[in-house]
Parts: sequence; structure tokens; C-alpha cells
Amino acid sequence: MSIHNLPRTYQNTWPITTSEGKLRLKIPASSISERGLKVTPVLVNGHSPFGAEIEGIDWSRPIPEGLVNELVQLQDKYAVLIFRNTGLDNARHIAFAQQLGKDLEVNPFFFGRENDRIGEPFLWDVGNINRDGTTVQPGQRRWEHSKGNALWHTDSSFHKPRAKYSLLLSHGNPAKGGSWTHFADTRGAYAALPQDKKDELESLIVEHDLWHSRKLASPKAFKEPLCHERNLVPPVCHKLVQTAPSGNKTLYLAAHAKRIIGKSFEDSQELIWELISHCTQSQFVFSMEWLQGGDMVWWDNRQSMHRANPYTESMTARDVRRATVNDDGPFALGVPTPSM
Ligand code: OGA
Ligand code: MN
Repeated sequence: MSIHNLPRTYQNTWPITTSEGKLRLKIPASSISERGLKVTPVLVNGHSPFGAEIEGIDWSRPIPEGLVNELVQLQDKYAVLIFRNTGLDNARHIAFAQQLGKDLEVNPFFFGRENDRIGEPFLWDVGNINRDGTTVQPGQRRWEHSKGNALWHTDSSFHKPRAKYSLLLSHGNPAKGGSWTHFADTRGAYAALPQDKKDELESLIVEHDLWHSRKLASPKAFKEPLCHERNLVPPVCHKLVQTAPSGNKTLYLAAHAKRIIGKSFEDSQELIWELISHCTQSQFVFSMEWLQGGDMVWWDNRQSMHRANPYTESMTARDVRRATVNDDGPFALGVPTPSM
């Protein structure tokens, strides 16, 4: 198969219309009580649960340290936690992220801080709204850049340090065009691989490069990154097979994955997209619908992948902002780039 024909977006659970008219979560799940909170697991397959909606948190005041620790335990178990109608603002969003890790990733403002609607270094504006209130349209660099978010990825695998957690908070849903984010269980997907495949992958090292995923999604605009873009984010190497916080092995993969050390570019891409395709089969994927401003999703980039729906020209304003917690673990900076 030529690398140009590899599938890069996949069937997923969206859109599913239920009797209530709207998809919330893939499985009509039942709730359990865990750590004093109401927990509704999303995907429960043979290996480990993946995704959970959490209720019972009072977001109107700072989250007590004890509860933060309980939430981290739940996060390690489920990898993606969904909270509805939190009412958080920028400051409390950032404050909660800071309770989860010492350092937050600083936004490099590729399009200039003066052009950023939020202008807050600890937040990424991943919505589709320009400073003047109009929606982002084809031809704008932000539009071309956003296309890469619709490829399966994990955040900032190309960054030193890589991202541990992402916290994406909605400040307003589009009235027209819908709003979903799709998540894939890389732990469950690893567990389902045959042993000979696991053996083949065990020691592989992968180079991650933001500009690779931008070019895949938008080949013309990102034929070559601009000089300042390249300097802001050079590539980084990581092990493909890693141990997740849950203790399970997982695949550390993303559309940013460009090259497997020791393989040609074509062979690398073929294996990378074969694996992404494996991880994103329907049994490992759920799609979360954003229902209202205040909804927040907190995911672990070390043990999941996700993707956005591509923006369309006709959809109305979607205001979503992300805080990103840096990894402070032993693999935060990846592994040294082996010489070829
Ligand atoms: C992100 C991202 C998905 C979305 O913020 O990292 O991939 O649905 N967002 O906007
Ligand atoms: Mn992302």
C-alpha cells in the first residue's frame, strides 16, 4: 500500500442518534460509586475500562488536595475523565491544572500572542473563533493548523517535556455544526495485539514531529514549516511501547509520529498508520459529545489518543480552551535520538 493511500481518519461512534435524539456516550452505561463520586464508565472491554463521566464535584470552590489525589487515581484507571457543566473560568481552569502537575506547557503562540483571542500563556485556543468574532475559514493558517487536530494524536509528543494531561474546557457550544471529541484506548489496543507483534514493537523508537502531522493534514500549507515554527518545536524521540500509569503496557502513538528509527520513511509510516488503525477500531473508541459550556474533558496523553472533528466553513462558534500539564516522569524528555 502506498503511504498516500493509508487511511488516516476512521469510522467512529459519531453520529449515533439515541431515543433521546443525541449521542452522549457510546454505551448506555450504568453508574457506580467510586471514591465517593458517581462514576459512569464508558468503554468496558476485557482488558481495562476506558473513559468515565464523573459527577459529584463542587467546582465552585478550590478542589481539596485529598479529592485531587482521588481524581488522579480515577484518571490512572480510566485515562479520560469527563465532567459536565463545571462552570469553570480561565483562572480556575488553570488553577485546577496546576494542582495536577508542577508545570503547565506554555503556549508558543504560533500566530502571535497579539492575534490570540485568549492571550493566556497557559491556555491553547483550539476553538474556531477569530479575535473579531468571525469563525476561522480556509486559507487562514489557524484553519490549516487545526486540520491536524482531526488526525488521531496525543498532545505534545513532539515537545520537551511531553504532555502528561490535557484539560479541555468548553466556554460555549456551536449552535450549528455539533461538537465532538473522539478518544481511543491505546492500552486496550496494545493488550489485544498478538504476542509476535508485541515482540516486534517492544524496542522500537519513534521520532515525533508536529510539522509532520500538520503536513499530513494540510500538505500545501505545511509543505515546509516556517522558520520560527520549526525552531519553536524541533522533533523528539520516544519509545513506542511504554508502561502506562495504570501499570498496563500501552502504545505511545500519534499522527506526529514521523519515522521509526532504523526504518525508511515509507516503512515507518506504514507501520505507524497500521498501528493507529488498530488502536482506533470501534471496540477501542468512544466519541464524547460536548453538550454545553462548562463541560470539561481531562485525558492522559500517555495512555490514550484523541482527535477533533474537522471544522467546517458553515459551523458556528465553538469555544474550547486547553490547559496542558507537562510530564515530569522519567520519559518526559523522550530518549536520545539514536544515530542512523
Ligand atoms: C486538543 C484537541 C480536540 C477537539 O485540544 O488537543 O485535540 O475536539 N482538541 O477540539
Ligand atoms: Mn489534541
